[in-house]
Amino acid sequence: MPKDFKDKVAIVTGAGSGIGEAVAHLLAKRGAKVVVADINAAHAKAVAKAIEAAGGTARPFVGDVADPASAEKLVADARKAYGALHLAVNNAGIGGPIAPTGEYPIDGWQKVIGINLSGVFYGLRYEIPAMLEAGGGAIVNVASILGSVGTSGSPAYVAAKHGVVGLTKAAAIEYAPKGIRINSVGPGYIDTPLLSAIDDGTKGYLVSLHPAGRLGTSEEVAALVAFLLSKEASFITGSYHLVDGGYVAR
Ligand code: NAI
Repeated sequence: MPKDFKDKVAIVTGAGSGIGEAVAHLLAKRGAKVVVADINAAHAKAVAKAIEAAGGTARPFVGDVADPASAEKLVADARKAYGALHLAVNNAGIGGPIAPTGEYPIDGWQKVIGINLSGVFYGLRYEIPAMLEAGGGAIVNVASILGSVGTSGSPAYVAAKHGVVGLTKAAAIEYAPKGIRINSVGPGYIDTPLLSAIDDGTKGYLVSLHPAGRLGTSEEVAALVAFLLSKEASFITGSYHLVDGGYVAR
């Protein structure tokens, strides 16, 4: 494994589980010092501990991405502990209620938009000034295939993820001249605890939507995220990258 993130400090939100956990492990294996941020304290601590046990450097941070004060504290924590901030992955998200738009619960809408869209903005709002001070950086926002196509029953999720793709473009244009690259990724359905509530029948249907004939893994998403954060992606910014087993190509 190349240690190309040696001397880099990274924040990963939602790193207590699933995709964020895989990203945190991969960045640490490649040498980054990682702040493992999650609203679930036990999971954040367990992942940071596992990274340290594997020889990496990590610390847990417990906070809510939907709270701007928490986003500010997270960046301050990374800088205080490790001296700067160079990399960030705004990944925390929830699925939210399932209902058609005409019946969608108002509080569910507000919660999904608060975490999945405003949470990404609050992250950028405090990560960007810290990266400017560090002389540059790279950010990946985790959207979804549902950042470019719709589905029934999840209007808040679809709207939030389309919003993440647009927000990524807006911020990338502003900060490209200043040495910060900002991209989004669009995973297909990935086998993580986020999908734990679905029954086997629905899971089979979701599999059938992917020409690859299976769901993706967190590690497959993490590989793309790490590439986009790396020097190899030095001319890539403002763009949306699918990792979806062919879902959107159908
Ligand atoms: P997951 O449920 O395994 O992990 C999400 C993590 O985010 C959890 O550890 C949870 O505690 C944390 N979290 C939730 N709300 C939070 C908050 N307000 N503040 C801080 N942390 C919070 O989910 P998964 O699948 O790893 O999802 C990660 C991201 O990937 C999400 O943005 C999701 O929308 C996106 N995604 C997931 C797909 C899938 O099929 N699993 C497909 C496409 C995108």
